[in-house]
Amino acid sequence: HKDRELRVHESLDELSTDLADYIAELSEASVKERGVFTIALSGGSLIGLMGKLCEAPYNKTVDWAKWYIFWADERVVAKNHADSNYKLAKDRLLSKVPIIPSHVHSINDTVSAEEAADDYEFVIRQLVKSRVISVSDISDCPKFDLILLGMGPDGHVASLFPNHSALEEKDEWVTFITDSPKPPPERITFTLPVINSASNVAIVATGDSKAEAVHLAVDDVGSDSPSVPAGVAQPLKGKLVWFLDKASASKLEGS
Ligand code: 6PG
Repeated sequence: HKDRELRVHESLDELSTDLADYIAELSEASVKERGVFTIALSGGSLIGLMGKLCEAPYNKTVDWAKWYIFWADERVVAKNHADSNYKLAKDRLLSKVPIIPSHVHSINDTVSAEEAADDYEFVIRQLVKSRVISVSDISDCPKFDLILLGMGPDGHVASLFPNHSALEEKDEWVTFITDSPKPPPERITFTLPVINSASNVAIVATGDSKAEAVHLAVDDVGSDSPSVPAGVAQPLKGKLVWFLDKASASKLEGS
């Protein structure tokens, strides 16, 4: 059984309000239950669409000190490089709210992609041991409270690209690629087992260029396996929410 919800919005403004509400509610629930909120970000337009979190009422009501922040994927570039997902989130979001700096887990930008992936997995393992990050009850994987994903027109999520071997990774929590079809080529990424062990996953996809991939990922297109990576992002025990606008939802069956 798939716990999946589609939220199709009339405008980006409406979508961003709903996204801020959704994140604030999950944060409140996690803090109440476990005293912390573990959230993984991605890059792209998602970060701009999260902008309302820096404004009233969220800037005051969200318990920012309880947030532990991770990246579902990151480009292997310096932290102050224009391509860095960390820099994007820091400039647009994290610098505007009272996050605790030691809770922000960006990648090691001084080593190779392979080492950066290993280091990141090690950091996550330590935080699982100390129970900051929960453990899945169905695998030994970390169970993030929320993993936020964008989706490319090719249907990639995190840095899991169509037909790439990284999609098949079953053992590692974090893997690396050096041949990304979208530049820059070197990236680290959460693997599918980690994405699908989360309590909540949201995929945020807007605009015409995403319509075909949304259709392939969401509709039962009649093949045995979904044809895009976003179609296999489905937490086994958790909940998936798609945040769409009219344009990205325009090719869904029944629309
Ligand atoms: C990257 C991007 C990428 C992005 C999607 C959707 O690492 O290259 O972060 O994975 O999340 O391509 O991006 P948009 O929402 O900006 O279209």
